[in-house]
Amino acid sequence: MAQATAFWDGIAERYAKSPIKDVQAYEYTLERTRSYLSADDSVLELGAGTGSTALQLAPSVAHYVASDLSPKMTEIGRAKARDQGVTNVEFIAADVSDTQLASAPYDTVLALNLLHLLPDLSQDLKRIHQMIKPGGLFISKSVCLNAKGLPLRLRIMKLAIPLMQMVGKAPYVRSLTTEDLEHEISAAGFEIIETGNYPAVPPSRYLVARRV
Ligand SMILES: C[S@@+](CC[C@H](N)C(=O)[O-])C[C@H]1O[C@@H](n2cnc3c(N)ncnc32)[C@H](O)[C@@H]1O
Repeated sequence: MAQATAFWDGIAERYAKSPIKDVQAYEYTLERTRSYLSADDSVLELGAGTGSTALQLAPSVAHYVASDLSPKMTEIGRAKARDQGVTNVEFIAADVSDTQLASAPYDTVLALNLLHLLPDLSQDLKRIHQMIKPGGLFISKSVCLNAKGLPLRLRIMKLAIPLMQMVGKAPYVRSLTTEDLEHEISAAGFEIIETGNYPAVPPSRYLVARRV
């Protein structure tokens, strides 16, 4: 975990400045996600990074907790919230497995661009299940690098990941298929109610699941 924290802390400033790669896909999933939220909801976002999405969604709910493994990411997020005058977001530095996140069940938990970065996905999904009220929602978006028909550039990138990890230039990344991901989420006790790939290549799987 210390290695992952150091990696994400180390790129936090750069991550905060990097532009959204596919604005149309981002805006679409943001809108779909907003459509599931209500004004009196309490929301937890895991792996929230520097809070760009948190700050866009928070005005639609009562209370929003933006958590991230990296203290540096959360520090930048807190400053952005202050600058933008968003007052109902609380930034917490916490790993997905941190027990403080499970202290009160949420209406909705979000994990955007996170699940493929978790070495212990099955166990973490069980923990996430416990963070959500019965009937509440788990909304995630995950890059699926084990998809068929990836273009050459992405296949080369996939081959380079272990080398980059050896020199601390890449975090842990799991190569998933969309089917693997859905199987894992269902096995943790969720019913999947919406799916889509935004963008389509490599599939960035958007999944809305209800806690059974
Ligand atoms: C690819 S970034 C995504 C950030 C943001 N959700 C977004 O979509 O822009 C992944 C984020 O997950 C965080 N992260 C990685 N492993 C984590 C873990 N085990 N628990 C909590 N956060 C984690 C990283 O610090 C990083 O900010």
